[in-house]
Amino acid sequence: MTAPAPDPVRLDPAVQARAAELRAQLEFHNHRYYVLDDPEVPDAEYDRQLRELQQLEERYPTLRTADSPTQRVGAPPLQHFATAEHLVPMLSLGNARTEADLRDFDQRIRRELDIESVHYVAEPKLDGLAISLVYENGLLIRAATRGDGRIGEEVTAQVRTIGAVPLRLRGSDWPQRLEVRGEVYLPLAGFEALKQRMLEQGQTPFKNPRNAAAGSLRQLDPRITARRPLTMVCYGFGAVAGGALGATQHEALARLRDWGLRVSADSTLVTGAEGCLQYQERMAARRDQLDYEIDGVVFKVDDLAAQRRLGFRARDPIWAIAFKYPPREEQTRVRAVEFQVGRTGAITPVARLEPVTVAGVTVANATLHNIDEVQRKDVRAGDTVIVRRAGDVIPEVVGVIQALRPPDTEPVRLPAQCPVCASDVIRTEGEAVARCSGGLFCAAQRKEALKHFASRRALDIDGLGDKLIEQLIEQELVKTPADLYALRAETIAALPRMGEKSSHNLLAAVERSRTTTLARFIYALGIREVGETMAAVLAAHFGALESLMQAETEILIAIDGVGPTVAEHIRGFFAQDHNREVIAQLTDPNGAGLHWPDPPPPSEAAQQHPLSGTTFVLTGTLARPRDAIKAELLAVGAKVTSAVSSNTDYVIVGDNPGSKAAKAAQLGIPILDETQLRVLLADPGTPPAMQAQSTQR
Ligand code: IVH
Repeated sequence: MTAPAPDPVRLDPAVQARAAELRAQLEFHNHRYYVLDDPEVPDAEYDRQLRELQQLEERYPTLRTADSPTQRVGAPPLQHFATAEHLVPMLSLGNARTEADLRDFDQRIRRELDIESVHYVAEPKLDGLAISLVYENGLLIRAATRGDGRIGEEVTAQVRTIGAVPLRLRGSDWPQRLEVRGEVYLPLAGFEALKQRMLEQGQTPFKNPRNAAAGSLRQLDPRITARRPLTMVCYGFGAVAGGALGATQHEALARLRDWGLRVSADSTLVTGAEGCLQYQERMAARRDQLDYEIDGVVFKVDDLAAQRRLGFRARDPIWAIAFKYPPREEQTRVRAVEFQVGRTGAITPVARLEPVTVAGVTVANATLHNIDEVQRKDVRAGDTVIVRRAGDVIPEVVGVIQALRPPDTEPVRLPAQCPVCASDVIRTEGEAVARCSGGLFCAAQRKEALKHFASRRALDIDGLGDKLIEQLIEQELVKTPADLYALRAETIAALPRMGEKSSHNLLAAVERSRTTTLARFIYALGIREVGETMAAVLAAHFGALESLMQAETEILIAIDGVGPTVAEHIRGFFAQDHNREVIAQLTDPNGAGLHWPDPPPPSEAAQQHPLSGTTFVLTGTLARPRDAIKAELLAVGAKVTSAVSSNTDYVIVGDNPGSKAAKAAQLGIPILDETQLRVLLADPGTPPAMQAQSTQR
């Protein structure tokens, strides 16, 4: 049975009020999340409010307005893109590539304006695609691509799905008609995630973030655009009528920000050619750390009246210039395709390249990810390829220039035997990764296992670097981690580049590593998918290595955070005789003698502990993995919940705590940072409540 359609004229005022409230809240959270990058509520709360509004609008369709936050999920597909004529042409920018070019630009401006020194707005030149947004009476009515500068394509339905684009401007002092221009782009993390998703679905991924942004926006089906993590930064204006923007570019940008549009956080005012050059250097140095791609920086005369006086030449404004950075992609030749063996035996194809400088860094190797990738891209020795280097990601081969392929090249095939130890290479059905089956018999895997064992977050053996490990393995002085503890000073001192002093220091570090923690020891074993956090969880849960080694799959998967795959890896690791043997040697008091403090059995400890039965909430960005802190608290019998209420005993805060810390303060609940928590856990003798009070400041 369907409920009778509600009468639109006599819509319950309470319903109307609720819809308006939800809409305002959702707009607020949207702005915090996408524009200010500072969300106030968890995603789940946002989703709950959105669902409630969707349900209201379904029941009372007259409530549904064009600017409702529910209208962002993507309209039905279009047949074709309509053309959109720009009210004011969308221009391009003149380029500067050298310091001299920039000085010429500044000199020209000073001469034309007949002034001593000029202020410029300096900002990153984002590498995405230019978009024009038209707002009328504060409502987004049209979005269009640049096209040929005069006529572009209308992409309103697609742009409406971008969270950073307000459907309605905030405040009320905006011009009656306001055309805003900016760049739509994909942040690097979003691009990497999209690439993974496309690969998993058997699609050919986009080659770079720019193509990905353009391809995502130019989708006839806006629901596809909605699933792509696009964002937008606004940097300028087109047609403006019925209102003003202020006297300067930087004031105008500040107005845009007030109206809820996203403006670059790296936009700033500089003075003269010197200021431009300094900004250029600063951004160039940061380029690899930015989470978005830039292809340069832009300088614009700040004074808007001066901009008008200077005007335009053919396609570019005279009052602005782009300083271009070297490209992220270069062309080079593949000398060979080789296969590397990792710690877990994963076999990764690598392209050995003729060295080429990509955006200031020499690249001689590029990853090809896995054999499927090599075959999909059909990369062969002798090929000319495009290599790409972005941020601190490992350089990769984007594709082959087929026209430049020499005759007699051979397709690359996965080797049947491990290139290091000649054991069989195994590829599990449905897995992209091929592995060497040699385990610790394989020198490559032994090297990697040893590097991991000695690393800082594992047993932290200072002075046992990669080069030394390679020598120890190659000369068969060390086969397993246990052998490290039998090394003699003379043996080490005899190795190339090692002397008496370094050998002595190394042995001292090996000695120190005998005293460790259970969590570090578990992590150091290098079990697949058992990272630092998981190791801490396992250590806190089992308390003793023996219990972990004997744990059945059901026991393992019952632990918070342990899935069936990890459980299988753990079981599989301890099921192997040689792994048990190495562990026995490592922990033998008459052998390597590794040891760690023995915690009392968790259940007993929990009952005795003064924190047993107390409730904690963790919030903000914490220095240590959340799971590790949680595991420690669980181990003493405390509970960890997600919401602050009158039942909460302590709130542990990290950086940028949100509303939870505020709520705790309101309720008078003790708020501790991580150091104070450590004190509390280490010294349970003092009544915890008192301790919290006394450590609060
Ligand atoms: S100003 C009239 N500012 O670069 C001013 N453009 O080569 C024209 N771009 O089509 C553009 N970041 O897509 C400007 N901060 C920025 C920019 C920027 C990226 C792009 C834009 C434009 C192209 C010009």
